[in-house]
Amino acid sequence: MEKSFSHKLPGEHVYKGVLFFGYSPPGALDAVKDLQVREDDVFIVTYPKAGTTWLQEILWLIMHDGDFARATSTPVYLRSPFIEFKDDVLGEDGLDLANKIDSPRVLKTHLQHSFMPMETNKKNCKIVVLFRNPKDVCTSYFHFYRSSSSFGQFKGTWPDFLDMFLAGHVDHGSWFDFTASWWQQRNRDNVYLMYYEHLKENTLAELEKLAQFVGKGQLSTDLLSHIAEHCSFGQMKTNPMTNHLDVYSINSHISPLLRKGEIGDWRTQFTVEQDEIFNRVYAEKLGHLDIPFQYRP
Ligand code: A3P
Repeated sequence: MEKSFSHKLPGEHVYKGVLFFGYSPPGALDAVKDLQVREDDVFIVTYPKAGTTWLQEILWLIMHDGDFARATSTPVYLRSPFIEFKDDVLGEDGLDLANKIDSPRVLKTHLQHSFMPMETNKKNCKIVVLFRNPKDVCTSYFHFYRSSSSFGQFKGTWPDFLDMFLAGHVDHGSWFDFTASWWQQRNRDNVYLMYYEHLKENTLAELEKLAQFVGKGQLSTDLLSHIAEHCSFGQMKTNPMTNHLDVYSINSHISPLLRKGEIGDWRTQFTVEQDEIFNRVYAEKLGHLDIPFQYRP
């Protein structure tokens, strides 16, 4: 029998078997399928809490030749729209915004591959997928759920949340399904797979490879260093254009969006037994895929 969970996301619904919060209503998910894709679009594909905002800021700056003037005056979510996000109350609609902005567009999504705009399979757009150790993702998501009223300010316990995460009963569904769906796409010429841990440990080299992939060629070391510095955890945390204090109704006294930005913080959250349970579920669902996550960095 399917488990039931007491926490309800505001406006939650199940779309094609995946749970979504109210800001991604069925109509918005339908409309995303029909998005007119441009050849020079870059999609950032992540599961929530994998470092999406970090990569948005990096890629936007790479695609816009280091336009720091705009980056420091316009919030990142307006420069890099979240395509399945629709907020009727605030009047923010990611898809509308995506249709309005000039190329080159840097578009954010947390969708599994089968939910993507159909034209992404035909056009020569670029798709950058960022993976992160799932235990760090789960830890980060727990704190986000606690602090965001768009997510119903979760009042349950950590074990309750871990159960929800393992069952895929969270916004945007199962991390395991998301990851399997994108792992299968990794050999396409226009799909580029990255890891949060590599980006953190070797930022400049990762930025250089990323710039090559999106067609920017060899960018100067000065520019790449400037982007890396601007996008460091400390800078982004104090930058009102990237710290999202005004969206998702995050109560940063409970937990800010830019919380710790570390590799392996899950160790402060998981008990030994919870770690074993997670490893077991991982082995059952994805063990056969040999994805090189850093479980023990
Ligand atoms: P933690 O909660 O572990 O700190 P997303 O943008 O996908 O919601 O991901 C949020 C996570 O990415 C948070 O993780 C946040 O701190 C981390 N993050 C955001 N910007 C970062 C940066 N510049 N460097 C490292 N981690 C960053």
